[in-house]
Amino acid sequence: MDEKQAKKKIQELKKTIEYHNHKYYVLDSPEIDDKEYDRLMKELIELEENYPSLKTPDSPSQRVGGEPLDEFSRVRHTVPMLSLANAENEQELREFDNRLRRLIGDDRSFSYVCELKIDGLAVSLVYENGVFVRGATRGDGLVGEDITNNLKTVRSIPLSLNSSYNLEVRGEVFMPKGAFYKLNEEKEKKGEEPFANPRNAAAGSLRQLDPKIAAKRELDIFLYSVPYIDIEENIEKKEFQSHYETLEFIKSIGFKVNPYIEKFSTIEGVVDYCTGFLERKPELQYDIDGIVIKVDEISIQNELGTTAKSPRWAIAYKFPAEKKVTQVQNIIINVGRTGALTPVAFLEPVNVAGSVVKRASLHNEDILNEKGIKIGDFVEIQKAGDIIPEIVRVIEEKRTGEEKDFVYPKECPVCKTEAVRLEDEAILRCINPSCPAQTVEKIIHFVSRDAMDVEGLGDKLVEKLYNEGLIKDVADLYYLSKDDIAGLSGFGEKSAENLINAIEESKSRPLTNLIFALGIRFVGKKAAGLLAKKYRTIDKLLDAKEEDIAEIPGMGEKIADSIVKFLSDENSLSLINKLKEAGVNMEETQEDEGEDRSFEGSIFNGKSVVLTGKVEGYSREEVKKILDRLGADVKNSVSRNTDIVIAGEDAGSKVDKARELGVEIMSGEEFLDKVGYL
Ligand code: IVH
Repeated sequence: MDEKQAKKKIQELKKTIEYHNHKYYVLDSPEIDDKEYDRLMKELIELEENYPSLKTPDSPSQRVGGEPLDEFSRVRHTVPMLSLANAENEQELREFDNRLRRLIGDDRSFSYVCELKIDGLAVSLVYENGVFVRGATRGDGLVGEDITNNLKTVRSIPLSLNSSYNLEVRGEVFMPKGAFYKLNEEKEKKGEEPFANPRNAAAGSLRQLDPKIAAKRELDIFLYSVPYIDIEENIEKKEFQSHYETLEFIKSIGFKVNPYIEKFSTIEGVVDYCTGFLERKPELQYDIDGIVIKVDEISIQNELGTTAKSPRWAIAYKFPAEKKVTQVQNIIINVGRTGALTPVAFLEPVNVAGSVVKRASLHNEDILNEKGIKIGDFVEIQKAGDIIPEIVRVIEEKRTGEEKDFVYPKECPVCKTEAVRLEDEAILRCINPSCPAQTVEKIIHFVSRDAMDVEGLGDKLVEKLYNEGLIKDVADLYYLSKDDIAGLSGFGEKSAENLINAIEESKSRPLTNLIFALGIRFVGKKAAGLLAKKYRTIDKLLDAKEEDIAEIPGMGEKIADSIVKFLSDENSLSLINKLKEAGVNMEETQEDEGEDRSFEGSIFNGKSVVLTGKVEGYSREEVKKILDRLGADVKNSVSRNTDIVIAGEDAGSKVDKARELGVEIMSGEEFLDKVGYL
């Protein structure tokens, strides 16, 4: 076969494979079996190997291509990716309808299209000349991150279209429930922390810098809009008359569109559709968190226009949080990395909103007392924001008199050191630095993704290594041998070797990661980055004066005090020495810093932001990191100079202060909505 013939054959194979891919992954009606599909792929790969110049990025052989990235680059959206206003109940839906009728005039008729609100992540897919060239996250709506390589691994995304369109389509990437359960089972087997829900699993997969990981995650996508489209040959703009027509078009060119789309001419129809799906939600193979209602006629959409945040012609009807009743079997105290003693209710397992809930944090003594929860009580629980289980109330009618009061301990339940309540804090702490429970949590933090990022070393495995006496502190990890690990149950030669390699690899993390990994109080990833940038080596940091640290913009006295206290402590010093002797990198190079990632145009850019409470599904460090990348200056306390306070769950007095000062308050959910959950 000469090159010309090979080119023709490759083109044919690409078309055939894309055709069968569409049949299998989009239409769910395969025409050929896996063996035949594999044979076609094999033929294509062989030809491409013989003629490397004929291998193009849109080839089906290139779905899992590309080396792992160091970081994602930024992409400015051609048309902003807006979010939707919410309707919490039927009444708000009717108000929405009244508002629209008022705005466009009562005498004119229009229709609504109802779609499922897929609980995943919004993405944009750009095709040039019919070829998929770029996929991005929503980011803050103006600028997102380029996740093309990860999106290419999503089999229902066509790499090339039948016509040479220049277009952008948008939709929601999600993880089907089946894939989510399978992934969590695997994670649990490996002793890794499972994902809380399919959306977090999908987000976690798209955040991976190595597309090979995303490729294993069985992600899927539904598309729902076309922000722009033209055809290359005659730059003819295609105009749609209605949203429904747009959806039919998206489907006709090979994309996956959700099948449960319905058109209604009255709000009554819309309301029935919404309540109907509330019941059908469990039958679906993927999670939905509501219904999206859109005006069908594009001309009326244009008349209504958009506000700064969302289109006036659409609304998201949010399903009410599912509530269940269960019994409190016990209340125990959990010891955190910083010694925080948090009461946790162990519950009779019950399925709420798609997953089994076994425990719920009670946060602190005040909350526990306020809710009046006793051991043995029947309680109503729900998932806040569909993620974190919380106890809503005690069902007092169900009390028998057998319930027992929970007595808050005076000491750490693990090391028995006296518990103290520090000034300004609602929680009790164990202040014994060598408390075993804290040590385990410290090691878990040390190996976590933002810290030393030891792949494959999950919480359960850390506990096991600690309980077996193989590690007593974080530095011991670097003195483990393959034999130590191979001797543990569940390990073989190969898995032990993988773990040792992952530990070895973590030695070369930049100083920023190491400082963060040490778990110094108040030192998150951002502060660690500032310290590493200023001092470059651990030795220089050890010599740093408190006043100098305090003066670094973004630090302040409280953080400086905590750093100096930590670094002058005998135990910390010997730990650092032990890490040094093991060969752990203690430097930050210019390269480690990476490019300047301030997001010009982001609503957070240049803003002073204070974070309080917990943002569902994200650690404080992750939220800080997102804000940092968006150009925000994250501060610890609210003042007149604060621009935005992000109030997650159980936000404290900072919110009152913000209210008092008239500072903008944003809920955790709004924040996630603005940054597109990444
Ligand atoms: S339309 C301008 N349709 O919900 C309107 N959104 O806050 C753009 N979503 O960011 C969104 N399913 O991530 C639309 N069928 C659907 C959707 C949907 C899920 C998500 C999307 C968006 C958020 C709205």
